[in-house]
Amino acid sequence: MAALDGRVALVTGAARGIGAAVAGRLAADGAAVVVLDLDEASGKATVDAIEAAGGRAIAIGADVTNAEQITAAADQAAEEFGSLDILVNNAGVTRDNLLFKLSEQDWDTVIGVHLKGAFLASKAAQKHMVAKKYGKIVNLSSVSALGNRGQANYSAAKMGLQGFTRTLAIELGPFGINVNAVAPGFIVTEMTGATAERLGITPEELAARSAEITPVRRVGQPADIANTIAFLVSDESSFITGQTIYVDGGRRL
Ligand SMILES: NC(=O)c1ccc[n+]([C@@H]2O[C@H](COP(=O)([O-])OP(=O)(O)OC[C@H]3O[C@@H](n4cnc5c(N)ncnc54)[C@H](O)[C@@H]3O)[C@@H](O)[C@H]2O)c1
Repeated sequence: MAALDGRVALVTGAARGIGAAVAGRLAADGAAVVVLDLDEASGKATVDAIEAAGGRAIAIGADVTNAEQITAAADQAAEEFGSLDILVNNAGVTRDNLLFKLSEQDWDTVIGVHLKGAFLASKAAQKHMVAKKYGKIVNLSSVSALGNRGQANYSAAKMGLQGFTRTLAIELGPFGINVNAVAPGFIVTEMTGATAERLGITPEELAARSAEITPVRRVGQPADIANTIAFLVSDESSFITGQTIYVDGGRRL
């Protein structure tokens, strides 16, 4: 029997990058997976890959900052597959700029997707988890929570998620729900590709520079995060809650 047989997982921002890798891994471990992203079509490739590998998944188009949409998505997940056991709050955006150039809009967008998005999705999911007295929530923080030039908005959101994680762990623990965060370092995705573009170098150059100053001498891949999350949503980690696990090859910025 696979570790997540009979479980149902909802992964936000799962059309590509880390979210797609997490969705694929949880499906491979036996979970039925809801691939949620801004539009349904963009999540379909993740669903196709899961189905091709023999797994079960559906795509839902929703914006995590929209309470109605995210609540409907959580309810649909539970209806379609019978429960909602696992939530991975992964959807994210960057709008980098130095403080004096950072617009109010870019502040609101980043805080909105990461913090409000995780709040709304967790609130929608906990209803199903509390009823079953079982659940796993994982929030995506970042090493940028510790401070990163040009990312005041993103850093605030990612450190905010660590406090959010600790608080949900306290509130939801008595209902059999574990809540943890994973804080990735440099992971090769379109998000880090966009950072390279902003710095005027290629994604490969940025990855090579990062690898040089990372103790394990490589950058991370989406699978590194998926492996960690697979553990955190399994029953092997049921005494771990409220934690933030840095998955960064030893590099703290
Ligand atoms: N790549 C890294 O190095 C890195 C490092 C630390 C943390 N993270 C975090 O990991 C998560 C995934 O990052 P990634 O690199 O895979 O990013 P990505 O940009 O490749 O993918 C993010 C996905 O989120 C979706 N999304 C954005 N806003 C959304 C919204 N409002 N509603 C629903 N979906 C939305 C996007 O459409 C996209 O598919 C993010 O939370 C990011 O902040 C990434």
